[in-house]
Amino acid sequence: MCGIVAALAARNVQGILLEGLKRLEYRGYDSAGMAVLENGVLERQRANGKVAALEEKLDQHALEGSIGIAHTRWATHGKPSEVNAHPHLAGGRVAIVHNGIIENFEPLKRELEADGVVFESETDTEVVAHLIDRAFAASHDLLAAVQSVLARIDGAYALAVMHADAPREIVGARKGSPLVVGAGIGENFLASDTLALLQVTDRFVYLQEGDVVRLSDAQGIEIFAGGEPAEREVHTFEHGDGAASRGEYRHFMLKEIHEQPSVIAATLAGRLSGSHVLESSFGVGARALFERVRQVHIIACGTSYHAGMVARYWLEKLAGIPTTVEVASEYRYREVVVPEDTLFVTLSQSGETADTLAALRYATSREANGARGYLATLAICNVPGSSLTRESDLSLMTQAGPEIGVASTKAFTTQLVALMLLTLSLRGTRGDERETALVQALRGLPALLEQALEMDGPIAELSEAFAEKHHALFLGRGTQFPIALEGALKLKEISYIHAEAYPAGELKHGPLALVDADMPVIAVAPNDELLEKLKSNLQEVRARGGELFVFADESVALTAADNLRVLHVPAVDEYLAPIVYTLPLQLLSYHVAVLKGTDVDQPRNLAKSVTVE
Ligand code: M6R
Repeated sequence: MCGIVAALAARNVQGILLEGLKRLEYRGYDSAGMAVLENGVLERQRANGKVAALEEKLDQHALEGSIGIAHTRWATHGKPSEVNAHPHLAGGRVAIVHNGIIENFEPLKRELEADGVVFESETDTEVVAHLIDRAFAASHDLLAAVQSVLARIDGAYALAVMHADAPREIVGARKGSPLVVGAGIGENFLASDTLALLQVTDRFVYLQEGDVVRLSDAQGIEIFAGGEPAEREVHTFEHGDGAASRGEYRHFMLKEIHEQPSVIAATLAGRLSGSHVLESSFGVGARALFERVRQVHIIACGTSYHAGMVARYWLEKLAGIPTTVEVASEYRYREVVVPEDTLFVTLSQSGETADTLAALRYATSREANGARGYLATLAICNVPGSSLTRESDLSLMTQAGPEIGVASTKAFTTQLVALMLLTLSLRGTRGDERETALVQALRGLPALLEQALEMDGPIAELSEAFAEKHHALFLGRGTQFPIALEGALKLKEISYIHAEAYPAGELKHGPLALVDADMPVIAVAPNDELLEKLKSNLQEVRARGGELFVFADESVALTAADNLRVLHVPAVDEYLAPIVYTLPLQLLSYHVAVLKGTDVDQPRNLAKSVTVE
């Protein structure tokens, strides 16, 4: 989705803004632009398409200025085009970049048109630029002008504004879309994502909903909430700038697949004692609160939803806690019955997914509406300071580090680890035999994942069988059914091969009709209590001439034959098998996508963080 970078410095900021935009490319966008202000003159360059197209224009006509704003746009109002690209100007004095949607832009636009304003673009953002221009003409104060306009607009936004007559100021604001302040030495920045600014600082202030910020030479960083000055903590980013580069890897996705052993170790670090999980990892008071939990509702989207589906098996079997899992876009528009003592859990890599955030707000508003409320809300999230963590009672941060590839990989497996920590914490049988064994198995997980990554070569070879296919079917049973769903999502997302997943026992109720020599069937077969059942389902496929690819526990006696290829996966505790079996499926989609020559890290039509509904 859209990206923002802004800089107020004592040096030329074109390079900083351009590098920031490149670092935001992974979020998905269709045009880019930049404006700088020097000696009271605004200059702008915009280009349809990739940031590289903007860079070419800047090569021909560089922008010189020590204060500037820049943007990558993902079209909502008006098609992708140079004229709709941000920054938008008003009166040649105001420049604005905006993420989000202004819902009441039409009446505001009509009002401005009636007053003689001629619009250049089809965007909702240009309306805000003109409103600020008018408000500034009255107050000659950029902060006051922005604040007065914010009071008139409905919707979601993160924005950054400059005015030619306030030549050493940038005003930013956030409501519904993320915006962080980067604190430098003698220079300050704004961005929609910390990654854009790691080139210049590692100190960040995560703005809260409704915050307005002014960067100026005179006062540095000033934050206002409800019109009053507000204090916000400065956080140091701990993952280093390496997170923003591919290093030796051909794609971010491959790098992120290979990071899984280390980020899972980081997610476990400090959260296990000798034989049990430290409930305090979820926040102050978590232990007492967990003792009261009788039900769990899990809400998420996409890959995070699949993690929730695995957790349902764990929570019901290991902790005996009735659990429901639902996609956020459905939950938020449904009348939900909330049983007493229910914990509401959201899962999100970004912590800014619009549907998940709206679901959280819907869940917490129920209490205010007089309906029976949830016992508490818990967010399992990968981005510190994100809206989801700030608005939840408890949170557990996965330690996956920045995930750049649009296809989620390490965020998913660290979510699974976090969900196993939650399951064990909710069992209420601290340090019993089962917990001790699982804690032990968790500690061994990074080493096991290293072994699973050694399957890379054979999987790359296997992927050749898929490159010409148009469809694929994934099968799993029990906790492996969500893993099959996740495998299918990865394959369709980055290779554009149509893939579906079924619980293997469901095959004969319809999908078996699809099976023929052109439909590769991928099955995940750990050594668990459902293995024999799964094997029978696989026979059903073979009997119909289907081509089978099975990822099976090394102890499972399955012999390769015509139309049956078997790849052995390291033996693993049955509860942790979903985590280990995810890796070969990630590698398979990766290699198929590479063979097909798709844009692995930025697949078509997709955005990393879906901040609009
Ligand atoms: O940031 P979130 O975890 O809330 O994102 C949810 C989905 O948009 C995300 O998992 C999406 O499905 C991924 N692209 C899948 O690889």
